[in-house]
Amino acid sequence: MGLKKATIIDGKEFSSRTNQSLLPYVELIVEKIGRPPALAVILVGEDAASLVYVRNKVKQTKDAGMVSIEHQLSAETSEKTLLSLIDTLNKDDQIDGILVQLPLPDHINENSIINAIKPSKDVDGFSIPNVGLLSTSVSGLIPCTPLGCLLLLKSYVGDLSGKSAVIIGRSNIVGKPMAQLLLNENCTVTIAHSKTKNIEAVCKEADILVAAVGRPNFVKSEWVKKGAVVIDVGINRLPPEGDKKGRLVGDVDFNSVSNVASAITPVPGGVGPMTIACLLRNTVTAACKRRNFNEPEM
Ligand code: GUN
Repeated sequence: MGLKKATIIDGKEFSSRTNQSLLPYVELIVEKIGRPPALAVILVGEDAASLVYVRNKVKQTKDAGMVSIEHQLSAETSEKTLLSLIDTLNKDDQIDGILVQLPLPDHINENSIINAIKPSKDVDGFSIPNVGLLSTSVSGLIPCTPLGCLLLLKSYVGDLSGKSAVIIGRSNIVGKPMAQLLLNENCTVTIAHSKTKNIEAVCKEADILVAAVGRPNFVKSEWVKKGAVVIDVGINRLPPEGDKKGRLVGDVDFNSVSNVASAITPVPGGVGPMTIACLLRNTVTAACKRRNFNEPEM
């Protein structure tokens, strides 16, 4: 009997459809206010991965016909200087969204920075008011990566109601908001983490398994229920081989798990592109919300 391989969920293709769907909103905003939605991106220091992410975010924002304004600050920038820049951007009517790339240097308090961003411009959805809105099922701005995962899941699975969902990882950026979103979709939600006992058995119960731990090939095929849908949020670079840069792999052992799952996201080309698509979507949403225009729907 031949093994049926999982469907590969094409995040690249889906993200370009998501981007396309934003065009009419961008056009409408231009028509109404005379300029496209505008995103300010702040990068402090020169973390190599952050530089790549920010470059991608800026490029794609521009490709989508929106304004992207980049603020690249030195690693020595004080918290006070950063807060003052955020204050200026909060008050600037020409700016709809503000994103501060994380992680920040150790001398800057991440929480203070995140919560200094005006909630209506907080396109990452990390500030306390937006977290509160998500946890009370009211629509605010939703963190980009979990939103991207949800859009993929809704498109490939359809109705998620009653499904057993297990999320591995409890970060504020992915794990916790992902749990909240799936709970809002009527899933039965479990969050597994580094202290979870018998994590294999917990994962094996999942109809929907989301891995967001940051450990290469962590999830093995024996952990996965036959027919489960697996979403791999991890982006891990393996050690270099000879003179070649190490390969990018996810948190899921893709080759073995794709013999068990019914659908799986690849790395790269799965969740990654959806994160950026959802950043663009949140920028449009922020621009619409501020002015009571119709905003993109789920
Ligand atoms: N660093 C890693 N992921 C993210 C993200 O989603 N937003 C921001 N601002 N920084 C990040």
